[in-house]
Amino acid sequence: MQSRLVCQSSAQVEADLLVIPITRAAFDARAQGALAGISATLDFDIFEEAASERFEGKKGQSFLLRGLKNLGTRRVLLLGAGDVAQLQAGNLRQVGVTAAKRARTLRALSVAIALPVILPEGLDDQRIAGQLLEGFCHGAYAFDRYVSAREDRFEGSQHLIIVAPEGAALNDDALTRSRVLADAICMARNLVNEPPAAMTPNELALRAEAIATTRGLEHHILGPTALEEGQFNLLLAVGRGSDNSPRMIHLIYRPEGEVKRRIAFVGKGVTFDTGGYSLKLNMANMHSDMAGGAAVLGAADAIGALKPAGLEIHFIVPAAENCINGAAIKVQDIVRGYGKKTVEILNTDAEGRLILADALAYAQEQDVDTIIDLATLTGASVVALGDYTAALFSSSESLASSLLSSARASGEDLWRMPLTERLDKQLDSPVADMKNLGKREGGAISAALFLRRWVNIDDWAHLDIAGPAFMSTDDEYYGQGATGYGVATLVDYACRLA
Ligand code: BES
Ligand code: MN
Ligand code: ZN
Repeated sequence: MQSRLVCQSSAQVEADLLVIPITRAAFDARAQGALAGISATLDFDIFEEAASERFEGKKGQSFLLRGLKNLGTRRVLLLGAGDVAQLQAGNLRQVGVTAAKRARTLRALSVAIALPVILPEGLDDQRIAGQLLEGFCHGAYAFDRYVSAREDRFEGSQHLIIVAPEGAALNDDALTRSRVLADAICMARNLVNEPPAAMTPNELALRAEAIATTRGLEHHILGPTALEEGQFNLLLAVGRGSDNSPRMIHLIYRPEGEVKRRIAFVGKGVTFDTGGYSLKLNMANMHSDMAGGAAVLGAADAIGALKPAGLEIHFIVPAAENCINGAAIKVQDIVRGYGKKTVEILNTDAEGRLILADALAYAQEQDVDTIIDLATLTGASVVALGDYTAALFSSSESLASSLLSSARASGEDLWRMPLTERLDKQLDSPVADMKNLGKREGGAISAALFLRRWVNIDDWAHLDIAGPAFMSTDDEYYGQGATGYGVATLVDYACRLA
């Protein structure tokens, strides 16, 4: 999709649809410049017209005018942006999403969105324009490459025009970061939405290589032989039950000039999770079990384009398919991981923590100061927090609060959970250094505690994204399928450090 920012009067902008988001406060005060200008041009009061249909600027409300003359557009859509206070919570992204969805039903190829007025403190025109753009790209996204072309099929909106008031101190560069981010998120969504036969560990590695080449990142892909030589035995163990062999994907962003800090982003890349011999009863959507890995690769794509200063960033994705054959791991197998400790495998469906153990031990070898991992790790985190909220585990107060504020600024729901010390002993095993299974109660916590056993640095955080990574039914914000959860938070986190 093409996007640009113009500073001109909304009445003149040429588009198939003009969207005017308006807050309750602005509607009450009849204080939306774009709307006043249009009312004047049309010679009738749109505020009164909308109010007569009980439009008040509430979130979710809309009001559509069609067949207009003397404007650059024939259709104007008012969208309620809600209370001004809520705009701080990234709600303008939601407005962008709604605009894109309505544009699809109205089959508008080009869409103009006017910047809303009456802003809360801390939100400037640039950030608002960025959020509208990000939301619009989110809402316009469709994974339809396998849907055969039909004559009545709508390709989706192709042009987005963000309209700032005439004379606004804003230029198109202000949107660069949002554009890069939106593209990276859509790329991550594509990786996750691909069916499992298409998105094997090898294919994920090839896509990662392509990102590295485009963005000028260093890359290392460890295949079966290198994994064998390096003794990445937990990753190999999980991948052993499949004909599609595992990979360790490692991209590196190196800044120009001095490195002030080294960070690793690690993402679970299980390209399909059958559960292994601890077979899942329901494995619907388990092609999304590489969403953590996709988020990390999305972040690599955006960071490679934005080039934050002073940070060296490692993007590490252990990729494997958790399947069954004669060689697959069995319950009670004991495997020594890359980090030299042994694990008694009591449930082959707790495979994410196994491949992450090897990846975390490997990340540590890169001499990083900070490690953040993302994984669709446990159903228990979804039971605890629901479909929208990811669980954050970290013993570092400062890392936890940075991530929480990056998530908030990105419109991604994140909630901190405890690393309850007393649950850790559940992971002790009489026959190995640890087992891969705790009790059902507190399952997201014991999974996090398992990961912690492979990390020696304090500045580590784990995000269990099993809930928000994938929407199994059509969602008003994300639609159906992969969400790209995590990309925006990671990119914001990195850019704030730079
Ligand atoms: N990939 C699943 C977790 C998951 C569940 C992701 C639902 C997305 C939606 C993970 O590998 C898994 O199977 N976890 C088990 C762990 C258990 C065996 C300790 C689970 O949550 O049931
Ligand atoms: Mn599993
Ligand atoms: Zn899994």
